[in-house]
Amino acid sequence: MRTVDLVRDCIKRMEPYKPGKSVEYVKRKYGLKKVVKLASNENPYGPSPKAVKALKSVDPTKLSVYPETFPEPLLEAIEEHTGWEKEKVVVGAGLDGILETTFRVLVSEGDKVLLPVPTYPYYHTIMSVFGAKGVFVERNSDFSVNVESVFESVDRERPKLVVICSPNNPTGNAERKDDVRAIVEFCEGKCVVFIDEAYGEFADYDGKSLKDIEEENVIIGRTLSKAFALASLRVGYAVMGEELRKEYLKATTPFPVTTPSYIAASEALRDREHLNFVVKSIVEEKNRVSKELEKMGLKVYDSSANFVFAETPMKAKYFVEELMKRGVIVRDCSAFCGCRENQVRISIGRKEDNDFLLEVVRDVLSF
Ligand SMILES: Cc1ncc(COP(=O)(O)O)c(C=O)c1O
Repeated sequence: MRTVDLVRDCIKRMEPYKPGKSVEYVKRKYGLKKVVKLASNENPYGPSPKAVKALKSVDPTKLSVYPETFPEPLLEAIEEHTGWEKEKVVVGAGLDGILETTFRVLVSEGDKVLLPVPTYPYYHTIMSVFGAKGVFVERNSDFSVNVESVFESVDRERPKLVVICSPNNPTGNAERKDDVRAIVEFCEGKCVVFIDEAYGEFADYDGKSLKDIEEENVIIGRTLSKAFALASLRVGYAVMGEELRKEYLKATTPFPVTTPSYIAASEALRDREHLNFVVKSIVEEKNRVSKELEKMGLKVYDSSANFVFAETPMKAKYFVEELMKRGVIVRDCSAFCGCRENQVRISIGRKEDNDFLLEVVRDVLSF
């Protein structure tokens, strides 16, 4: 028997992960000096200076000791930021880590998971890893979740888990709170609803938006990777019902967040001034970029996140390649489940990067 024959069938059936093109790769391939990446929804302003200072002050002798399982300073900072009681919160290695543990707790091979599509591609990856069957529900024309379709599919297909991404990646729209509440209430006693608020801080509502949705079957997940610009430290957190949390804690790795990560993350969450500056700057630039792209003939959808979703006059594959040849990397969404062949996602950068993007798009479209 070959070693590879021991690998689970659901893994063998998966396509290998294709990472986006890096700045270095594009520079080399096209012989360019200047390349701007607006493809991964990263935060161009960087983390809070207070978080950076805290990271630098970490005592190196602490690195040989495992971190705390329940890092109190981080839990307190999360409670202050969100209003969620810290006793109901879990922390994880990024929001992806929290999603994975949630799947470990709930999803066995053959179980169903419902996703309104298009949505965040990593949900599809974890579903494949766990051998889950996807129940894919089409969205409304403004990409909001079609609540009636969710109700029908939940009754017909009996999924274990419904994942609602709000604001949604890649379409950028935030769900109406009443719709989310209706879905959670409908699903009570039937399945768990995971609400992914990775981009929550960019939306119009404040961090306490869904605090009063407290049903036992709801999990709300957040991350420090986006508005707090700490993607490399891998810190996520979630609030969930008491009974579910007890089961979750049995399945999580005991030390999901490193000591330097939680020390820096606690400071970042407390630095409201930096957060407000980042969010305000990105929202202003997003409005400007959206208007300019529309003037050039792209259809740009309203976004509550740090990126915009747009339809281009040509196939996304060509549009993205032409932009790349000129030094701008954006995301081709045509292969996302539920997307069309002319749809792209563009992250919002600093003003000078966005100006470069607009210049390059103008050039591609007039070519
Ligand atoms: C919707 C959504 N959820 C979760 C994540 C992952 O977040 P983290 O970096 O905390 O794992 C991302 C990252 O792009 C995302 O877009």
